[in-house]
Amino acid sequence: MDSRQWDERYRGDELVWTDSPNQFLVAETAELTPGRAVDLACGEGRNAIWLAEQGWEATGVDFSAVGLAKAVRFAALREVQVTWVESPVESWTPPPDGFDLVAMCYLQLPQPNRSAALAVAASAVAPGGTLLVIAHDLDNLTRGYGGPPSPDVLYRVSEVTEAAVEAGLTVGRAEQAVRLVHTDDGPREAIDTVVTARRPAADGVQA
Ligand SMILES: C[S@@+](CC[C@H](N)C(=O)[O-])C[C@H]1O[C@@H](n2cnc3c(N)ncnc32)[C@H](O)[C@@H]1O
Repeated sequence: MDSRQWDERYRGDELVWTDSPNQFLVAETAELTPGRAVDLACGEGRNAIWLAEQGWEATGVDFSAVGLAKAVRFAALREVQVTWVESPVESWTPPPDGFDLVAMCYLQLPQPNRSAALAVAASAVAPGGTLLVIAHDLDNLTRGYGGPPSPDVLYRVSEVTEAAVEAGLTVGRAEQAVRLVHTDDGPREAIDTVVTARRPAADGVQA
């Protein structure tokens, strides 16, 4: 989907996604000291806003102006400051100092855009910082609930770890993780790719 199609999807006052943060984002940031965070493909901002509430200096990047406009309103309601950037992730230039946390949640792109986005995300991690990629996994197609029906946009854990290693990061958690989805027909299981990776701290700097 291009940005105009996402803009159409985001039109209207209702949130397309939930207002709660992603459960893996919550778990994986629990032990981190808040610093500068960027949420790539932030959509309506649920994760960036939650990070700001936890004390992170948060930035959200997305190419949908309509999605970002909703994020602005949502952040105002929650009374937090987030910097919003309208840009495709693949062509976004991170600041030279990078971020202490780079989160990218459910940016389901076909190749070569997916690899380009992963490379940008990994490059944005500051020394001592953490990359967190959460995405609909390829196996979700056959044994998971919801998510995109096209295999072209689904992730494999290995492609994320390879991108992280390529960018000089050390991989931490790297697995297919089950996410419980509460539906009108009861709980269902979705299969996500969840990968964390860390950039080694610069010489003499404590992470
Ligand atoms: C499934 S939504 C996920 C939103 C958010 N990460 C969340 O978890 O609530 C995917 C988001 O990716 C954005 N997106 C898709 N392709 C993009 C691209 N190439 N660059 C930037 N944003 C993109 C869409 O506008 C949409 O907001």
